[in-house]
Amino acid sequence: MKEYNMDNKEISVLGLGYIGLPTSIVLAKAGHLVKGYDPNKEVVKSLNDGKIHIVENNLQEEFKKVVDSGKFKAYSEVQPADVYIMCVPTPFKENHEEKLADLSYVESAAHTVATVVKKGDLVILESTVPPLTTKLVADIIEKDTGMSRDDFYVAHCPERVLPGRILYELEHNDRIIGSEKEEAGLMAKSLYESFVKEGTCYVTDDVTAEMCKLVENTFRDINIAYANELSIICNELGIDAFKLIELANKHPRVNILTPGVGVGGHCIAVDPWFLVEKFGDKAKLINTARHINDFKPLWVSNQVEEDVNHDKNTKIGVLGLAYKPNIDDLRESPSIILAEDLIKKGYNVYGCEPNTNKDKINDIEVKSLDYVLDNCDYLVITLANDEFVEEKAKKRILAKKHYNCIGMK
Ligand SMILES: NC(=O)c1ccc[n+]([C@@H]2O[C@H](COP(=O)([O-])OP(=O)(O)OC[C@H]3O[C@@H](n4cnc5c(N)ncnc54)[C@H](O)[C@@H]3O)[C@@H](O)[C@H]2O)c1
Repeated sequence: MKEYNMDNKEISVLGLGYIGLPTSIVLAKAGHLVKGYDPNKEVVKSLNDGKIHIVENNLQEEFKKVVDSGKFKAYSEVQPADVYIMCVPTPFKENHEEKLADLSYVESAAHTVATVVKKGDLVILESTVPPLTTKLVADIIEKDTGMSRDDFYVAHCPERVLPGRILYELEHNDRIIGSEKEEAGLMAKSLYESFVKEGTCYVTDDVTAEMCKLVENTFRDINIAYANELSIICNELGIDAFKLIELANKHPRVNILTPGVGVGGHCIAVDPWFLVEKFGDKAKLINTARHINDFKPLWVSNQVEEDVNHDKNTKIGVLGLAYKPNIDDLRESPSIILAEDLIKKGYNVYGCEPNTNKDKINDIEVKSLDYVLDNCDYLVITLANDEFVEEKAKKRILAKKHYNCIGMK
């Protein structure tokens, strides 16, 4: 197998968000010269003023170090380099009833790379994408530049980091790298090995790498859907789903996950739809799991309504608005869907999320825990935030009439 040396390269990172910025930092720490590009001028200005624009542990400190070392600078125009890494968004298409992947950011970034890429350069797509998108990137570059596909290299290396631990996980997680041409995969492997300290970099074909990211998150989604469905069935039987799962998990080969208010965030709640979009009827289980998890907050809302005897004067507090405990990320949050559904039904709803300083999220008024405990008649416990599970607070919460989505004890 041919060895490649990708040490001390010039690297252009396209998209300086939650993934692109930390990736730039670990690359710069590993000795590469990183030229970050983002079309958002405020992002570029903030970074060149020395201030990061996202919330992530240790990121500001590590960012300062790489800026001081002269290994990172942000630009509003893409800069020529040896390697291009695309970390651009892949949301759903807006104004579509169906959940369809919006690849316009990926396509636009590929056109941008095509303006500067030269013979022998490596282009890496890190964004989470439906299968065959890496080939689409190569097609765009080939067409725009007039170069032959043999003149440049394209690989896909999906990201698996957990927000809050991004810098640690970038250097410690295993990576899956895929490419149409083996050389591209081996070049990318050498590049990632320059900063992955503990994990192993595995090389495969591009479509397998694309699918790998999607099936990882779909695996989580399906397993959570099973737990959420069980919680609905247990409710019919009048038994405690959390107790049932605890006992079932005493089986040596069973590990059922914990039910909750639903599934949120921009990965697990999004990526399985990319498979449903491509494979329709063939992705029955995946589609069903998505619908179960999307339905769960609405089902909780109906349970709450019955519990308060449809009394619209009830003041309801929703404890937890982010998509998981102890973070500020509100994207696709099922707690927000639940709170908004209750508001739509005519209830007075106050949300409590200690990790945000917003006073209002959509139509939801955000209040302190004390305010909610003092003013609400009924609580919906959606997240085990540190502030809620602390002994004194927990006692006050559980003393009120409530719906407990998370089995808080
Ligand atoms: N955030 C995570 O924890 C996470 C984890 C795994 C995978 N991913 C995937 O990584 C990708 C990026 O996600 P993110 O969370 O970093 O997004 P983000 O929104 O935080 O950042 C994306 C950045 O790309 C910039 N951008 C938009 N169009 C561009 C273009 N044409 N060229 C260059 N830059 C452009 C935006 O201005 C923005 O700053 C997505 O596909 C996402 O699904 C994210």
